[in-house]
Order: sequence, then C-alpha cells, then structure tokens
Amino acid sequence: MCDATIEAMPKLTFTLNGEKCGVAYEEGQNLLDVLREGCGVVSAKDGCSGEGVCGCCAVLVDGRPKLSCKQHPAKIEGQEITTLEGFSVEERELLATAFVREGAAQCGFCTPGIAVRAKSVIDKGQGCDRAAVGKALSGHICRCTGYARIFDAFASAQALRDGEVLPQGPRTSCFFGPGGSEPPEAGVGASALNYQGRAKVMGEKLFVADMRVEGMLHGAVVLSPHPRALLQGIDTSAALALPGVHRVFTADDVPGDRYIGLIAKDWPAFTAVGEETRCVGDVVAFVVADTQHLAHRAADLVELRVQELEPVTSPQAALEPGAHQVHESGNLLSTCAFTRGDVDEALAGAVHTLDERFTTQRIEHAFLEPEAALAVPMETGVKVYTQGQGVHDDQRQVADLLGLHKDQVHVELVCNGGAFGGKEDMSIQGQTSLAAFLMGRPVRTVLTRAQSLLMHPKRHPLWMHYRIGADAEGRLLGARVRMIGDTGAYASVGAKVLERAAGHSMGPYRVPAVDVEALAVYTNNPPCGAMRGFGANQAAFAIEGLLDRLAERVGVDGYEIRKRNILSPGDRFATGQLMNESVLGLHRSLEACEAAYRSADYAGIACGIKNTGIGNGMPDMGRVEVEVLADGKLMVRTGYTEMGQGLFTILRQVVAQETGLDAEDMEVTTVSEEAVLCGMTTASRATALATRAGCRAGEKLAAAMAESGLDALVGQRFQGEYVNHSTTKPDADVAEPVTHMAFSFATQVVVLDEDGHLEKVVAAHDVGRAINPLQCAGQIEGGVHMGLGYALSEDFPCTGGHPDSLRLREVGIIPAKHTPPVEVILIEQPDESGGYGSKGVGEIGLVPTAGAVAEALYRFDGKRRSQLPMVDGAAAEGFVPKVRRPR
Ligand code: FES
Repeated sequence: MCDATIEAMPKLTFTLNGEKCGVAYEEGQNLLDVLREGCGVVSAKDGCSGEGVCGCCAVLVDGRPKLSCKQHPAKIEGQEITTLEGFSVEERELLATAFVREGAAQCGFCTPGIAVRAKSVIDKGQGCDRAAVGKALSGHICRCTGYARIFDAFASAQALRDGEVLPQGPRTSCFFGPGGSEPPEAGVGASALNYQGRAKVMGEKLFVADMRVEGMLHGAVVLSPHPRALLQGIDTSAALALPGVHRVFTADDVPGDRYIGLIAKDWPAFTAVGEETRCVGDVVAFVVADTQHLAHRAADLVELRVQELEPVTSPQAALEPGAHQVHESGNLLSTCAFTRGDVDEALAGAVHTLDERFTTQRIEHAFLEPEAALAVPMETGVKVYTQGQGVHDDQRQVADLLGLHKDQVHVELVCNGGAFGGKEDMSIQGQTSLAAFLMGRPVRTVLTRAQSLLMHPKRHPLWMHYRIGADAEGRLLGARVRMIGDTGAYASVGAKVLERAAGHSMGPYRVPAVDVEALAVYTNNPPCGAMRGFGANQAAFAIEGLLDRLAERVGVDGYEIRKRNILSPGDRFATGQLMNESVLGLHRSLEACEAAYRSADYAGIACGIKNTGIGNGMPDMGRVEVEVLADGKLMVRTGYTEMGQGLFTILRQVVAQETGLDAEDMEVTTVSEEAVLCGMTTASRATALATRAGCRAGEKLAAAMAESGLDALVGQRFQGEYVNHSTTKPDADVAEPVTHMAFSFATQVVVLDEDGHLEKVVAAHDVGRAINPLQCAGQIEGGVHMGLGYALSEDFPCTGGHPDSLRLREVGIIPAKHTPPVEVILIEQPDESGGYGSKGVGEIGLVPTAGAVAEALYRFDGKRRSQLPMVDGAAAEGFVPKVRRPR
C-alpha cells in the first residue's frame, strides 16, 4: 500500500497489552482486523467475520471482555486493550494448565477466546458452576469438544486461582466398560495431554490465517450471484482502479487443467465466460491486493454480466425427463445397488411389516476456522500451506491446475481449526497458488464465513424409503431400501457417501435378505460431500426409527428389540461381509446402556455401526516416518492431517511406546512427501492406520538403537507402513464380500427430564483400544453434541439454490447452556486391523444420536418422527434459530 494511501487512512491510538500503540486502519475494519492486521496479534481469531457469534476474538477492553469483531476502532481511542499475549505469566500458566489437563482444547481455534472469557468469569468470583459457565459461554461456539471439558476447565481454573490442589487427572473420568485395560502412566493407553495444547490455549499455535511472510499479498474470491446463470462477461476495471489492487485472475489465466475434484474432475476452479455457473459457490474471479480488507472490497467491485437461468433444485426433479442437465454426463452421478437373499419371499413371510419414509436435512460443518491458504512461489513451482484434509490430494490438484509436475508443488499442512469432512475438497488452495505462481509473490487468502458457507460441500440431505419385515418376535427377515441423495452441483465424494449410506442401511442388525439402491443426484444446490458419519448417520436415523416402531408392534422395549437383532460373530453386515469377534463390542456397548435406558421414564436407545477406513474397494494405508535429529530429538512425519482429533498426540505416544524415548522430545508434522503418502484423512481411519504404521517405524528405530545407540542414528529415517487392499465394493460380484477393513460400534441413551428437555446422554463406545482415553472421550462428547444438533436444530435450508441464511448463528448449533452432560463408557473389543487393536472413533460419536433422541421424544409426547431436524420437540425448545434469507 503506498504512503499516500496510508496517510489518508484514519488513525487510532490506544494501549495494547500495556504499550501505547498508534495504528492506521482501513474504513470498514473492526477492532479485530486492527489487532490482527495492524498490530500482529494472533491470539484473537476470526471465526465468524464480524457476526459476533463465535467468540474466538474475545479480548479485554478496559478490563471487560468484549468481542473485538463488534467494536468499531474509533470507539477504542484511548482505551486499554488486553489480549492473551498481555496476560501475566501466572494467568497464562493457570489458564493453560486448566484447559490442557481437562482436555478442553481439541483443534484450539475457539480456545483463546474462551480462555479470555474464563479469566473474566473467575475474576468476578461468582463461581464456575455449570449454569454460570453455560451463561458465560453464550457468546462462544466450540464445535469440537461438546463443551463438556470446557466446563471442567473453568472449574479447574477457578480452583487453581483459589490455591486448591487439583485432583490427579481430569475432573471427568473416562469410564471403561467391563474388561477394559488399566490405563498406564505413559505410552499407548495413557491419557497423554494434547500435543501443543498449551500453545493452542494461549493462541500461539498459528493457523494459516495467522501466518505472514515477507512481501505477502492477499487474495479474495468473486463468487457467482446465482445458482445457475450464463456468464457473459467480467468487468474488472473498477476493482483494478483501487490503489493497492494488483491483479484480477479469471479462467483465462489458468495454465493447466481448470477442473478439479477429488474423484471426478467436474468442478471448475474458475467458471469461464460463455459457460454456465452451477451453484452459488462457483468462483468466477480472484482479486489480489495489498491487504485482506482491500482484496474483499475490490472483489465486491468486480462486475459480472450474467443471464440468470432456472436452476434444478431437487434431486427428484433432476431425475425427471427433460430436466435441466447440470453436467453433460447427466444428473445421475451414481447408483449403488446390491441384493442378498430373496427379499420378496422374506417380506411375504413376515408377521410384521413396516413401510416408512424418512428424510434428513442438509447441514453445515461449522468448523470454527474458515478456509485459508498461503502460497509461496518457489524456483520452479509453489509451496502451499494448507488446512485441508489431504495434503497429497491438494498437491495433485494444485499441480494439475498450474500445469506443473507434482514434485513442483510442495504442500505443508498447518493443523486446522476443525474440518469434520468439510475440508476434504479444495476451496481456495488452487486460486491462491495460481496467483502466487503467476505473480512470483506470496499470496494468502482467507474466506469470510459467508463465503465459507457458500463454497464447501455440506452433509447430504437424503430421502429414504424402507420396507422391512420381521417374524413374530421382531427378528428382522428382509428389507427393501431406496435412497436418493442431493449431491448438489459437484461430485465431490457424493457417490461414496451414498455408497456408505447403502452399506449402512441395516445399521448393526442382522437382516438375511436385503435389496438396497442408493442414488446420488446432481442439482444446482450447494455441493454435498463428506461430513462426519458420511451417510451412516442418515441411514441410522431410519433403521433405528424402524426398530422402535417394530418393538412397539411386538410388545417389547427398545433394548430388547435391539438385543434380538444385533449382529453377532458369523452374521453378515448388509453388504454381506461376515462379522468376526470384533462385533462383540456392540453387544458390550448395548449391555452397558441397559440400566440407563430402563431406569428413565423418557429415554431413547439406539445402536450404531461405522466403518473404519474407506474400504468399499479402495485401499486404506498408513505411513509414518521417524527421523533422528541432530539434538537426539525425533521428527515424526505422516501424511494424515491433525484437525483437533489428536492424531499428533497419539503418534508421539506410539513412538514413545516402541522406543522408550520421551514423547516430549518428539515433534510431529504432516507433509506431502511420497514416503508418507496416506491419502485423505477421512473415514475414522487415521488413528487405526497411523498407529499401526507408527508402531512399525518405532520398532525399526528401537532395533537400530539396540545395535548402535541413538547418537549414531542422527539423520537416519525409519519408515513404517500398513496398507490394506482387502476390501470389495458393495455391489461387487464376489463370493465373500469384505467391504470394510474394520467397524466401530456404539450404543447411546438419550434421557429427557420431566419437561422434555435434554437431561443427559450415555454413550458406550467400542473403540477397540483406547490409545488415549482422554482424547477418545473428547471425540465422543464432541460427536454427541453434533449429533444432538443434527437431531434437533441444525439445518442449512436452500430456496431456489440459494442458502436461506449465510449466518453462523443460524445453522442451529446447540449452545453450551443447553448441552446436557455426556457420560462416556469406553469399551475395548480389539480389531486386528487397527494399531494395538484400535477402531475409529471420530465419526461414530453421532451415528446413533438422532435415533435415540427420536425415541426419547416419542416416549415423552407419543409422536413418531421421521424427519430431521426434529424441531417440534420440547428438547429443541430455546435453541432452534430463526432462519433468514441472506441479503
Ligand atoms: Fe473448540 Fe475446535 S476446540 S472449535
């Protein structure tokens, strides 16, 4: 930005962390922008673009907590601002200790803001009981933890302030079901504290939007104003006329293949003039300017000449003859169909038959960190700092877009602020890399919350029709299922989601005859793709609802009907896969929930099954490399992503376990090197596969150490690998199908109080082996919170292809004060394919939840529910948002 422009900008003087500070700011910036862009503060984060709902930007203004995104800079003149960086050493130590010991920080994006709030609450001295903390958190969102351990962290911070001696271990214990292992002090099975946890709490852990490099410019996207429109022209003159704007890129600038995509390359990085847009998240142009604020202002000045066209907005309409074809290949993206046994005969012979339809909604991931990318030109290519879920997929797609060889693109993962599947597809990595590569300067792009909501794929809405038959005792005999999923404008992983929904259509139940068909259909709605549970959640809501209806017909309760139907060793999963001893974890989880279910008046019970690993004919792999550094410390590398789930923490535990070395002397990182190629961090597979590979790398290092000692190994690298090629597609014509390398199992009970409000959730989960019980419990608590929202309040409705709201406040996340306690019971029934017997835990946390909520509500008011979200229940009262159309 030139001197004259800076001279003309308004100025502000205030005290920042005890130091006088004078700074110029741009019109339209808020205090958060000033702190981050003008003063270099990184602890205050931007999660909602000035909406004032996420709380990540909380700071103290004259000693009082304020959301800095809601403060106009002019009002700060002369005031005293304190950010986490300015807290005393003692205060920082106290907060870091309290949050880390309780496991209250997962991805850590929300945590600094909550830590500021915690200081304010304990300074007031009004106590840290659940009600007080819930109220204090009303301006904050945590999407990872489910709040359970944040409540504990407030209590521990208060206790430390009061000089109390804290109990050994976290306040909320991890209960093990019968037969669980005795957790050791260190290594595998210990509740090791979160790697870089203190830095996360203090806001020192850098996310992509916190990174700055010399000479960096800023990018901003221009998106399609309509879901379907013919792009007739792009006028960039007004944007380019702004001082400080460098270039505007369009489709004409792409040197390589303009189409990206994880499986099918059907998604243009830019829509070209003369083409039709397919959804409101389509990128039409990309502006590069001196500052982030300026880039966004300039993007607003890019004028598009468009002819608006009628979109197709429902999958049923899209399949009608004569419907507009979203892609030349047609609107049917995929069909997954399989049969086993004679369903007609099974249904004809059934004593009880049920014919029901279920629908589920589109929802938003609402990870707290909006998408960001930083690209730095290199001699013959580009280095990309990404927050995506697959560094190798990002590398491949960026290289194709730029017309480069894969080796010319280096991708480094910066641990992200939550993803939940929503960062599998590329967002702005491609456009940012293009700009940096062509301009020869570093470029960073950070999406606004509204752009984030528009661009990344959502959870699929599904329409499901089930016809099931059972014998007189309620034992399932056969089922015919038809599913249609709205995959939106692009393929993403939509075909795989519907494949997974089909495969999980029977849940964890024995059904001798099945006939299943699942269609993924293109529309002009926002794309749908991966989200935690990946099709299993939708199917679980349907099959659990049917089990409860069947129980009523037969005259037994929800526990008994499940007991009669759950899979046992030797039974077959819906796809025909033979279940082994591992499925006994399902029995143990159901038994662990019996008392909680049968002792409550208004309780629902539901079981869940979720594959570990992608499977369905795709390879699953884990690769880990351990390098001995000059100082005797270790560098652990993997291709899997750390996104708050705790992968890096457990990899240190594994290597420490195998080598006997101190986990504190190990750093962990995600890189795109071929040696650690893992593919996407998805399908709850990273723990099972990376621990297995990490174990092998650790064993090799341990063997070498035994021969020559650690000092002689400096510079050497030890690789561990595990690849599973054994799975088959659900519709493959094979004698013995094996669609998944492993499964995890769960049973949950949702209990309502006398007023029909959420009272508690009991979640008994078979995790195979709890590599880190504290983290396991955290994943389950966060999953249950997300599952309750999915059941009761979360929604992302669209009208005519436009989202009804682009506000984070209105996606329906259940706030802290309405979140019930979650009692986690860990079951350890090992599976031979996962490291140390581990099974996936990331997704299954919310697979059974909606079914259990539906039955609890039915017991409360006698009304059967077949549609999500179930906003008409007392349990949803008070946190169902009013959705508004965006301007
Ligand atoms: Fe709170 Fe990730 S830890 S949003």
